[in-house]
Amino acid sequence: MATIRDVAAAAGVSATTASRALSGNGRVSPATIVRVGIAVDALDYQPNEIARSLLSKRTMTLGLVVPDITNPFFPELVAGAERAASALERTIFLVEARSAERARHDIGLLRGRAVDGIIVIGNPFPSAADLLTAVGSIPLIVVDRAASMSEISTVCCDHFNGGNIGVDHLVGLGHKRIIHLAGPVAADVSAQRVHGYEFAMRSHGLTPHVVPAGFEITGGAAAVEALLADHVPFTALTAANDLSAIGAMRALSQAGLSVPGRVSVVGYDDIQMASFVSPALTTVRQPSADLGSQAVELIARQIEGETKVIRRVLPVELVARESTGRANS
Ligand code: RIB
Repeated sequence: MATIRDVAAAAGVSATTASRALSGNGRVSPATIVRVGIAVDALDYQPNEIARSLLSKRTMTLGLVVPDITNPFFPELVAGAERAASALERTIFLVEARSAERARHDIGLLRGRAVDGIIVIGNPFPSAADLLTAVGSIPLIVVDRAASMSEISTVCCDHFNGGNIGVDHLVGLGHKRIIHLAGPVAADVSAQRVHGYEFAMRSHGLTPHVVPAGFEITGGAAAVEALLADHVPFTALTAANDLSAIGAMRALSQAGLSVPGRVSVVGYDDIQMASFVSPALTTVRQPSADLGSQAVELIARQIEGETKVIRRVLPVELVARESTGRANS
């Protein structure tokens, strides 16, 4: 395997000059840069990243902490982050943290690999302070949390408006009895969606009705089964995410209630599956890939010395499909 000394010898320069020509640091003539480049190609030279990181004190790697790899919302976000990291010549180490204990352990692994920065989706810890303790002095960006992250730079979507636009769409179709299937109380994004739903309902002179459902398919189904068992009247549902909306539609179908004939359903996220279930799901789309790419942009700025706390809020939009229709009676 060729070394930097082999490249230097082939280009007729010192090893220091060859390193400068490759790193772009220091004054090197264009002719020398060309000669070094020709030698690199001829010898198929691959820089030793470990050696390079010892010099630059950068490993060109990022840690990415995901709460639930099985939820299809997150892979789309991770893909956006990975594309942005690759464009910056950086590699991502991905870990899943379903609990605070697992997060503490896996963030420790990332710190052990000397990642240059860490992006955390959500917050696996009870507080922002716990998260900061686990991450230490490594640059940190939190995605999909905002309200509870005072001193941490974040990228999140406008979930208050997200809760609004689902209701506005259903009211426009004549619905009045609209129930919200709420996400996990630990996630401030769930609370923002509830607040947006409640604000929109009251703005239309309607009475909000919120029931817990979580972010799982089974949670949406169980919430609908409980509503039907209690004979709660409703003609429409807004769910905190697409998976719980899909579970809700399944439970409605099993109870003989057609969607949207008897009940209209609005999801949240716009995962790829949303347009392939039947009926295709009306939903509130989050720009998940943009969440990932903008998190990488911000962590790269922090690694380069940015100290300002930056709060990015990305817009959401309603994607109307077949699961919503005009209210009957
Ligand atoms: O579907 C997963 C949910 O968890 C998404 O709505 C995302 O915002 C995250 O909070």
